[in-house]
Amino acid sequence: MSETLPATPPVARQQPTYPDAEALARTLHQLSTLPPLVTSWEILRLKRQIADAVAGRRFLLQGGDCAESFGDATASVITGRLKVLMQMSLVLIYGLRKPVVRVGRFAGQYAKPRSSDSETRGGVTLPAYRGDIVNAAAFTPEARTPDPGRLLRAYYKAGLTLNFTRALVDGGFADLNNAENWELDFVRDTPMSEAYHDIVARIQDALSFVFTLTDEHVDDFRRAEFFTSHEALILAYEQALTRTVRNLDVPFNLSTHLPWIGLRTHDPDGAHVAYAATIGNPIAVKVGHETSTETLRLLLRHLDPDREPGRLTLIARMGASRVEDHLPRIVETVRAAGHPVLWVCDAMHGNTESTATGVKTRRFENIASEVEQSFRIHKALGGHLGGVHLELTGEDVTECTGGARGLSDDDLTRAYRSTVDPRLNAEQALELALRIVGSAA
Ligand code: PEP
Ligand code: CO
Repeated sequence: MSETLPATPPVARQQPTYPDAEALARTLHQLSTLPPLVTSWEILRLKRQIADAVAGRRFLLQGGDCAESFGDATASVITGRLKVLMQMSLVLIYGLRKPVVRVGRFAGQYAKPRSSDSETRGGVTLPAYRGDIVNAAAFTPEARTPDPGRLLRAYYKAGLTLNFTRALVDGGFADLNNAENWELDFVRDTPMSEAYHDIVARIQDALSFVFTLTDEHVDDFRRAEFFTSHEALILAYEQALTRTVRNLDVPFNLSTHLPWIGLRTHDPDGAHVAYAATIGNPIAVKVGHETSTETLRLLLRHLDPDREPGRLTLIARMGASRVEDHLPRIVETVRAAGHPVLWVCDAMHGNTESTATGVKTRRFENIASEVEQSFRIHKALGGHLGGVHLELTGEDVTECTGGARGLSDDDLTRAYRSTVDPRLNAEQALELALRIVGSAA
């Protein structure tokens, strides 16, 4: 590890305080004996694909819920999310003329950073809700007390989600010839569906032409891969699933392919960065307008000391109104330091706002604008935007406003289900994919 890390133990921010230390220790021991959720060769395969994206040969699509809840490990939620990601990736592959690396924000995205450790309502103060891996959202002392048993439940729910995802993919769900499987009923008659079906028809036509010429590598065309990612926030959980791997000289976090460090924990001297520096996974880090040049330089030095393509992804989340002023400084700092990072645009977290009645939302136009500006800024600086990071769902929700259907603030009451951040619904996500293709042109 870098000699610039401090001698005092690094501070772990955003960690729950468990009242029962013994129960926590028992649970962590149990977790450490359970089998991994993913393998090191899958992780290394993703790292190579990210390196390809750094070189401009692939595009990364990272998306899913802001926070998964345990109740979301259902067939319909899992398939709905996969359908949206499949539809978006098809549009991107066709429009960008590049293979797309699909990375879900799922199978482990159960922890949320919070701006305050506690919440007060009507004179009562309780611990903040930190995601289903820690406690429950209801405002009662029982629900809000951090429960180590939830670490195990998170592991099992992640395992179930991943198992069903793998079964769907292996069973041909992601085969292009089965594209009708990805239809979501409520998206069928939308303004986007004509453009989308036109793309599907063209790709199927092109593929059938290729298949008549050769039947080699047919499976490669048909088998879409999904990788997983989550914010590596609760360090005890991440560490319990970090394992040494035969013939590899560094340990791997085998709970997910791509762990990321959020904005609130990206302190270069903090425990999250110190942990990430020790593992062999590709790492993603969120950066914002508030990320200083010095912080960025230290992050690069600690997390990518070997300047290895594929190792580090920087996910910029500035907001449509700030990206122009702040992204160039961030990009130039990285360039000057000589690190081959993958640049990804999180067009969600800098664009959160509240309506007049206090509902958290995001405007479709701001999301699309941040992506468009990011493409342009990277290009002007001689580089390229290599991916997007989005919060979306396959459910018919009304959480973000705008889009072709013109959802207004009043529509938000119809189907607002997120307990945390507002997500794009499937229709808005597909529209955004078309906009991404337009922006990249
Ligand atoms: C998130 O990705 O849900 C999140 C909390 O992001 P950030 O760390 O960028 O605020
Ligand atoms: Co979020």
